[in-house]
Amino acid sequence: MSKINLIVTENYEEMSKKAAALFEELLKKKPNANLGLATGSTPIGLYKELIKLNKANEISFKDVKTYNLDEYCDLPKQHEQSYYTFMNENLFKHIDININNTHLPKGEGDSKINAKNYEDILKNIKIDIQLLGIGSNGHIGFNEPGTDFDIGVHEVQLTDNTIKDNARFFENDINKVPKKAITMGIKNILDVETIILVANGVNKAEAIKKVMSGKIDKNVPASALNLHKGKVYVIVDKEAASKL
Ligand code: PGA
Repeated sequence: MSKINLIVTENYEEMSKKAAALFEELLKKKPNANLGLATGSTPIGLYKELIKLNKANEISFKDVKTYNLDEYCDLPKQHEQSYYTFMNENLFKHIDININNTHLPKGEGDSKINAKNYEDILKNIKIDIQLLGIGSNGHIGFNEPGTDFDIGVHEVQLTDNTIKDNARFFENDINKVPKKAITMGIKNILDVETIILVANGVNKAEAIKKVMSGKIDKNVPASALNLHKGKVYVIVDKEAASKL
């Protein structure tokens, strides 16, 4: 059994609201929080909730700094599927954040240098809440099955499974999906204060079951959350919880 705080919701909307409430609570207490953010379809509803709260003047991002998990390699920053574009379109351009306070790993250029630069940025701060999605194969960020838990920011080759999962964003053409990415390592993720993992849909059920079993398994990167010393919330809809 895992010590993770599990929250099962009726549906995607409720999952998004529950996660947003945890961000709201933090930002009311600590307006200059460091937020670790994620891309993918799962967090979009949560970002919509944060935008609503910001527009209603319930929360402000004026003094917030953000740090994203990952970025594709070799995709121009301005490409419509870069995570840089994703964050601007789905969150940053709708809220009162200072864009200079937003950080993503750099995907273009020398990955070794880019990884070191991002690691140096992370070394000097403490992330208050790190948001995570989960891959159907249990990956977090782009830490694919088999990744060591003790490495920091690094370049990864995406697995066939992840390339297939992400092809829907690239006209369903696996050849258009970048093959490499740069990601925070599991070590960086375990360094944060609080982790919130969100998941919905039946194709995440198996991965969620493995995480919640409490068993640490290198082939299920998200199982590393069971090693986290701070708080961990796993917020899932009924379908993602269907194998628990
Ligand atoms: P998704 O991706 O939210 O698009 O399902 C999650 C992930 O791969 O981390």
